[in-house]
Amino acid sequence: MYYIGIDLGTSAVKLLLMDSDGNIKNIVSREYPLYFPHPGWSEQKPEDWYHESLEGMKALTEGIDRREVAGISFGGQMHGLVILDDKDQVIRPAILWNDGRTQEETDYLNHTIGEDKLASYTANIAFAGFTAPKILWVRKHEPENFRKICKIMLPKDYLAYMLSGSFCTDLSDASGMLLVDVKNRCWSQEMLEICQIKETQLPKLYESYEVVGALKPAIADALGFSHSVKIIAGAGDNAASAVGTGTVGNEMCNLSLGTSGTLFISSSRFVDTPNHALHSFCHADGHYHLMGCMLSAASCNKWWNEEILNTKDYAKEQEDIHRLGENDVFYLPYLMGERSPHNDPSCKAAFIGMRMDTSRSEMTQAVLEGVAFGLRDSLEIARNLGLHVTRSKIVGGGSKSRLWMSICANVMNLTLDVPAIQEGPSLGGAMLAAVGCGEFSSVEEAASKIIRITDTIEPDPVLTEKYEEKYEHFRKFYPALKGLF
Ligand code: XUL
Repeated sequence: MYYIGIDLGTSAVKLLLMDSDGNIKNIVSREYPLYFPHPGWSEQKPEDWYHESLEGMKALTEGIDRREVAGISFGGQMHGLVILDDKDQVIRPAILWNDGRTQEETDYLNHTIGEDKLASYTANIAFAGFTAPKILWVRKHEPENFRKICKIMLPKDYLAYMLSGSFCTDLSDASGMLLVDVKNRCWSQEMLEICQIKETQLPKLYESYEVVGALKPAIADALGFSHSVKIIAGAGDNAASAVGTGTVGNEMCNLSLGTSGTLFISSSRFVDTPNHALHSFCHADGHYHLMGCMLSAASCNKWWNEEILNTKDYAKEQEDIHRLGENDVFYLPYLMGERSPHNDPSCKAAFIGMRMDTSRSEMTQAVLEGVAFGLRDSLEIARNLGLHVTRSKIVGGGSKSRLWMSICANVMNLTLDVPAIQEGPSLGGAMLAAVGCGEFSSVEEAASKIIRITDTIEPDPVLTEKYEEKYEHFRKFYPALKGLF
């Protein structure tokens, strides 16, 4: 049998076809536009996601017996607000995870309702990208649209709804709405009241590996699939990526250098975080995880190369970088403001420390290092919570650069394992589909049978010491500049 994992990303949808033994048979990617209608806003059209996913599935399954496709599941960009009216029409473009328009609503939640209350209801505080502040924003700024809302869902749930008619979500993704009581794995009635929404407007909650319905017969016919294809709930992209790297069970770690950068630590028990700088969410394996998310990671490198240096040859720009740990140029990676740990949508990126003889490659190096330092900020919080993280998987577009992985290993003093298959969320989605269809008894079993490590990067004690000193510098810049942004 075959399983399809759909990674609904910010720049593209990536689809992966996996067979029953965990072999990857095909991968397809299709792009769609991202809109920035105002500075700091970030939107996409759900209709584009659906259209490109359908086209993607056609291309993905070319040349196989399509009637052997058994299940479809997802890893989706998190936190996006998708709202449908009573005719199932999308009311307005989706407001995405990296959208910073909700400062006022976030402040209202954190300061008027209060962080302690929010944390007691949801285990988390409000961050500008989360879904609840977006609902409050629509209520205030687009009351017409707010009144029309019949269904509220997350990006990947729109795909599940269109494909199966099932109005569903999963607990890992729903945790990032700030509407879920994470510890007890249910909707928080207090949060629904604060946002003035009803439970009937929200999807039914599932575990990520549970079946939510079947592919609609008309779509199955159009794709040449059988009528028994199951749709499985899926997960937020970070939880799906963690599944796709085997970051399941207790105290395993995954670093993702995608558009956003995340530090993800799985936990078999619920973790209460006193300062809430890291998110405490449900995991796709049925347990829990902690996560730090920086809004701009690989996107900093993309911006620097493509927008500023005007090149797509990232590798060439890195060829002259040889002196790790000795760069006097620093870069603050806050191109879209920052989530973890600063929770500050208005902070900005900056280069610091240039001189007349500063070279292009030193600035490129500073960008790579700045992202690693930003991830280290989240790791420090986890270490202060008593989590002993010394080893991690690494995935995402940025992990195509061995240099960048080595910088991360040394900045964070982590041994980094590179999985054989670098398709985190789409592989995780396909694995969840396989678990839902009964191919494996649990997510853990699927991970232990499918995930293989092909490369390991050890930190070098000399470099970690050098970077320790640089990090002490880096961590002083944000507090110093904060008031000026
Ligand atoms: C996680 C987050 C991002 C998006 C990117 O909290 O906001 O990683 O999920 O797709």
